Amino acid sequence: MTDVKARPGSNAYGYFDVAAREYVITRPDTPTPWLNYIGEGRYGGIVSNTGGGFSFDRDPRNRRVSRYRYNAIPVDQPGRYVYLRDQETGEFWSPTARPTRVELDSYECRHGTAYTRISGSFEGIAAEILYFVPLSPVDEPAPCELWVLKVRNDGSTPRKLRSFSYVEFSLADANNDLNNLDWAQHIVFSSCEDGVIRVGTKFNPLNYFFASSETPTGYTCDREDFVGRGRDLTDPIVVETGTPSNAPSPRGNSVGSLTHDLDLAPGEERQIVFIMGATERAAEIGRVVARYSQPAEVASAFQALRDDWDAYLSRFTVETPDADTNAMINFWNQVQCRTTLYWSRFVSGYETGLGRGMGTRDSGQDTLGTMHTVPEHARRMLTTIWTMQFADGHTWHQFFPLTLEGGPGLAGEYPKWPQWFSDDHLWLIISVCAYLRETGSLDYLDQKVAYVDHAEESVWEHMLRAVDFTLSHLGPHGLPRSGFSDWNDTLDVDHGSGKAESVWTAMQFCKAMLDLAELSEKIDRPADAARFAGLHETMAAAINEHAWDGAWYMRSFDDDGLPIGIAGAAHHAIDLIPQSWSVLGKVAPPARAEQAMASADEKLNTRYGIALMWPPYDGADPRVAGMATYVPGAKENGGIFCHANAWSIVAAAMLGHGDQAYKYYRQILPLARTDSDLYKVEPYTYPQNICGPAHPSFGMARNAWLTGTASWTFVAATQWILGIRPTYDGLRVAPAMPSGWQGFKAHREYRGTAYEISVRREGPGNTVAMIVDGVAVPGDVVPPPPPGTAAVIVEVVVA
Ligand code: GLC
Repeated sequence: MTDVKARPGSNAYGYFDVAAREYVITRPDTPTPWLNYIGEGRYGGIVSNTGGGFSFDRDPRNRRVSRYRYNAIPVDQPGRYVYLRDQETGEFWSPTARPTRVELDSYECRHGTAYTRISGSFEGIAAEILYFVPLSPVDEPAPCELWVLKVRNDGSTPRKLRSFSYVEFSLADANNDLNNLDWAQHIVFSSCEDGVIRVGTKFNPLNYFFASSETPTGYTCDREDFVGRGRDLTDPIVVETGTPSNAPSPRGNSVGSLTHDLDLAPGEERQIVFIMGATERAAEIGRVVARYSQPAEVASAFQALRDDWDAYLSRFTVETPDADTNAMINFWNQVQCRTTLYWSRFVSGYETGLGRGMGTRDSGQDTLGTMHTVPEHARRMLTTIWTMQFADGHTWHQFFPLTLEGGPGLAGEYPKWPQWFSDDHLWLIISVCAYLRETGSLDYLDQKVAYVDHAEESVWEHMLRAVDFTLSHLGPHGLPRSGFSDWNDTLDVDHGSGKAESVWTAMQFCKAMLDLAELSEKIDRPADAARFAGLHETMAAAINEHAWDGAWYMRSFDDDGLPIGIAGAAHHAIDLIPQSWSVLGKVAPPARAEQAMASADEKLNTRYGIALMWPPYDGADPRVAGMATYVPGAKENGGIFCHANAWSIVAAAMLGHGDQAYKYYRQILPLARTDSDLYKVEPYTYPQNICGPAHPSFGMARNAWLTGTASWTFVAATQWILGIRPTYDGLRVAPAMPSGWQGFKAHREYRGTAYEISVRREGPGNTVAMIVDGVAVPGDVVPPPPPGTAAVIVEVVVA
C-alpha cells in the first residue's frame, strides 16, 4: 500500500505513535486540555495531558471520588498530582508540568488505551507517572486506581528529593459537594493511619482511601494545611517548606497527600505506587494496598489491562492507503466507541457528570460502534434501556447508571410541552436489529424485560410497543409528531398543538420499519413482515407527498403546522439530516435521493465538514426555541454537527458515491486536522461539533470524546466505505471506496470466524466479484462457513 505516513495527526503539539498505539503530546500548553479516560466504565475517570482530571466510581454524580473544577482558572485543575522537591535547594516542580508552572527540561504525555503516562525531567531528575485502573471483577468491593511514579537521578551527584502527592476528595454526592457547602464541609473528614489516608462521613460506610507502596515519611489530609493561606497549587506551603502537616482533616476539604523521601545515587531509579479507591468495606483496604504494593502485581495488572484492550481492538483491523484512516479505525475510533458506550454523554471535559446521566437515544446509538467486538456489552446496554420504556412505547430520555433512575431530560424544564421525544424508542429497534445481524442471537427477542410501569415482556413485544407509540402520535400529514424534540435536541417545535411534525423522525421510522420487516422475514413472521413493509410504504408516501420542497426535503412542521426547511426562508431554509435520511430510510425515489444529497452538498458543505442547516437563526425564534439560542454557526444552529456528517457519509456510500463518502469522511477525520491552534481539541477523538461558516471561529471544534459521531463514523467507514457489514445470512463485502484507492485489506471477526478480506480495484465502479477460500461465489455475501471455522479468506474484486 502506498503513501502511509509514519506519524498520523502530526501537529505542533503531538502525533500518533502507530507502533506504540499512543497519542504523544509533546507540549503541555495544548489549546484545550487533551484528555483520556481511565477505567472500564466502572471505577475510573478523566486525565488530561498535564495530570488534571478526577475520578468516580460507576456514576460521576452519585459516587464522585475526587474533585475537578470545571471552567475555572487556572484551567484543568485539580488532578492527580505529585510534586518533587530538591531538599538541598528547596526547588520544587511538577513532572506533569502542572500545577506548578516551572518549565521542565523535557515533557511528554502518552495517552493509550485507558492509561496515560506523563513524563517530565528537571535539572537531572527524570520522572514519569503512569495512571491506570486495574481490571477488576464487577463486584470488586474496593475498586482502585494506580499512579505509578518513577523517579531517576540522571545526574552525576547524589540527590535528596522529597515527593508530595496531591488529590482533592469530593463528597460522593457531587451536587451537594458544590451546592450545600455548609453541610458537605461539616460531614466529611479524613485521617491517616499506617500510611493510609481515609476519607469518609459518620453516616455512610463509604470510604475513599489513598495509600502508597512505600512507607510515607509524612502526610497532609487537609487542603488548607497543604496550600496555606492566600496561596494556590503553584506554591503550596507544604511543598515550599518541605514540611507536611501530619494532621487529620476534621472538616472542610480533604486531600490525599503523602510525603516520601527519595535519596537517589547517580543513575538510581525509585518507584512509588499510589493507590486510590473507594469502598464500603474498610477491611478490604488493607488487601488492596498490600496487593498493589508489590511491583509484580502492578506490572501484571497493567499488562492485563493492555491485553484486554488489545483483544477489544483485534476484532476489526484495516490497512487502507490512508494512514489517518487506518489509525482512526484501528485505534482511536474504536477506543472512543467503547468510551461512549461506557459514559454516553455523562462525563467529559464538557459534561460535568452532575446532571444529564446516560441518554437513551445516545446510548442506543453508541451500541452500534461496539457490536462487532463486545456484543455482550451492547446487549446489556440495550436491555438496560428497554427497562426505561413505558407501556405506551416511549422511553425515558435519560437514566443514571448506578441508581437506574430515569428522567425526561431537557423536557423536564418545559413541563407544558411534550415530555417525550419522537426518536428515543425507535433507536432501540434499529440497534436491536443491528445486534441480531451481528450475532445471530435471535434468542434475544425472547428475553423478558420489565417496563417502567408494566410487568415484563419480551424484547420483541417491547419493539412492537415502540412502533405503536409512533403510530399513535401522528400529526396532520401522517408524519410523527415531533415531541419535545427529535434527534435534534434544540429543534423544539412541538408546543402541544398536535400539528408539529418531524420529517426526519418519519424517515427514521422508515428505517426502523425496514429493519423490522427484514427481521420478521428472518424469524418466519410473514404477516408482520408485510405489515412493517406496508408501514414503511405509507410513511414514505406521506413524506414524499407533503415534505418534498422541490430540490430537497423539508425538516419539520412547526406548532402552527407551517414547514421549516424550505427554499427562500430567511433562516433554516435547508437542513442536512432529512437529505441523508431520505437515503438511509429508503424514502426517496432515486432521482430525489440524488437531488436531495446534491442540494445538501451545494448549500451546506464546507472544508471542515457539512453544516447542519443554513442560514442559521440570528436571535430568538419561538418556533424552534432551543436552536435559536445559539449564535449563528454554533452547534445545531448552523454549526458542523459531526454526528450528522456521519449519516451523510453513509448516504453517499449507499448511493454508490465512494469519492463523495470519503470526502465527507476525511473532512471531519480528527487526525487529518493538523491545525490545532484553530481546531483546538484533541486531534484523536471526534468532537461533537465544529463551528460553522457563519461563526467567527469557523473550523474550531468543541466537545470532544462523548458524541454519537464515534459510533456512526465507525459504522460509516467500516460498513459503508469499506462495505463490510453483517447480514442475517453472512458477512457482506460491498465497498463504496474512493476511486483513488487500489484496494485495502481488512481482518474482521464475525460470529466466531476470522474473515481475512482483501479488496482490489480493477475498474471504476462498485460491482463486486467474490472469491471465498479460492472459490468464486455469487453475490457479495460470504456464505456462512461451517460452525467452528477459524478463518476464511475473502478476495473481492471491485470493478
Ligand atoms: C447531543 C445530544 C444528542 C442529540 C444531539 C443533537 O449530542 O447528546 O442526544 O441528539 O446533541 O441535538
